[in-house]
Amino acid sequence: MPTDLLGLLRQNQGRQFELHDRHVNPRMREMLRLVGMDADYVRAAGRYLYDAAGRRFLDLVTHSGVFSIGHNHPHVAQTLKAVLSAELPNILLMDCSLLSGLLAERLLKTAPHLGKVYFGNSGAEAVEAGVKMARGATGKPRIVSFVGAYHGLTYGALSTVGHEMWREGFAPFLPGCVQVPFNDADAVGRELARGDVACVLGETIQGDGGVGLPEPGFWPAVADLCRRHGAYLVLDEIQVGLGRAGGHLHAYQHYGVEPDMLLLGKALSGGQAAVSALLMRDEIFSRVFSRVDRCVIHSGTFCENNLSMAAAWATLDVYDDEDLLSKSEQQGRYFLERLLPLREKYELVHDVRGKGLLLAIELGPPRSLRLQMGWRTIAAVNEGLAAQMIIVPLYRDHGILVELAGHNFRVIKIMPPLDISREEIDHVVESLDRVLAESHRFPGGNWGLVVEMARRAMAV
Ligand SMILES: Cc1ncc(COP(=O)(O)O)c(C=O)c1O
Repeated sequence: MPTDLLGLLRQNQGRQFELHDRHVNPRMREMLRLVGMDADYVRAAGRYLYDAAGRRFLDLVTHSGVFSIGHNHPHVAQTLKAVLSAELPNILLMDCSLLSGLLAERLLKTAPHLGKVYFGNSGAEAVEAGVKMARGATGKPRIVSFVGAYHGLTYGALSTVGHEMWREGFAPFLPGCVQVPFNDADAVGRELARGDVACVLGETIQGDGGVGLPEPGFWPAVADLCRRHGAYLVLDEIQVGLGRAGGHLHAYQHYGVEPDMLLLGKALSGGQAAVSALLMRDEIFSRVFSRVDRCVIHSGTFCENNLSMAAAWATLDVYDDEDLLSKSEQQGRYFLERLLPLREKYELVHDVRGKGLLLAIELGPPRSLRLQMGWRTIAAVNEGLAAQMIIVPLYRDHGILVELAGHNFRVIKIMPPLDISREEIDHVVESLDRVLAESHRFPGGNWGLVVEMARRAMAV
């Protein structure tokens, strides 16, 4: 008898932790339990997650931007259903699919200086393709990326990541990869001057590094250096693209620069089918796919599958229909304005910054002796614990989901769906204000919570 999958899920409701403990990733379960964020989610719709106990959570994590149009958007779901029931030819080896051609045409209209698209299934795959194309097209070996960068965890991508947390234990990496400080065009220039660099790969705005904004003139200077030294500029907008930075579809459009290759992922999928895209100059494609017998010289079985192509197409429809680019700009400006006073009000808040709906609250050591005692106690165990003092009560008491920036444990990153409302922003800021006030009471307040967390972390 065929399985009634939804029935199966209902029968097994609540077993996910036990199953993952045994068969998937027990460490994930440990971490969720440690921070008290092990809710039994049963539904996701729009800007909210719902758990079995009937609580709802405003999602300001969105898996680093995947859910920019919200969870399970009905237009994407309907489009996927339509594609599934149409019995279209799919991922044939000897074919050029219409759907991928249409999607490529639509994407390239948003970046008219670029001429070809390579589709992938994940962000890391797009990064892999980018560095490989750069080497293939230039014949040069080296890849310059940035300290603090995150580009994914497959070997090529990991070789360009600029943080030890991800790399520890996995050396040796792809030869010829070097990281220079972000915002330091002179350092980029010194590497390029050696004449052997295939590409400079950077996130237009650093996401997991802690929302690192490029200084004015940085990207144009890097683009100019790349041009002079015959290297390509590859911008990774897997996290910060597709309207996240507000106003424009692509983040680079804010910074007076045009990349030779542009990497998209996450939000492009509408959160419902895996997809990424590498948009490149025609010249790069022609140099790599240089003869007819090299027509699949870089390719993958599922790369242009119908569900991914349709999900991306429908997601772009939602951006147009719901005017998400203006929303992300307006709401982003409002959110930042409302968050900025927290920097003056609370000594633990060292900075508040952002672009569009990519926002960061950076914590740091307090000035007052009283709070310094608490800070030192928890920092000795784990730097990330201070931020948990904010993240956990926001989640537990206010139904708001935020997270640390990937490997910058002092930064709380806020990435809501792009249609977040003013009322929701007000609720977040007022809740943050309350939680921060509690975190400035020592002893007591939220410090007890993290000291207990530290104790449990050491016991694990
Ligand atoms: C900037 C950036 N590049 C690449 C990736 C890798 O994407 P994926 O996890 O889909 O492989 C990510 C994922 O977080 C990212 O943020």
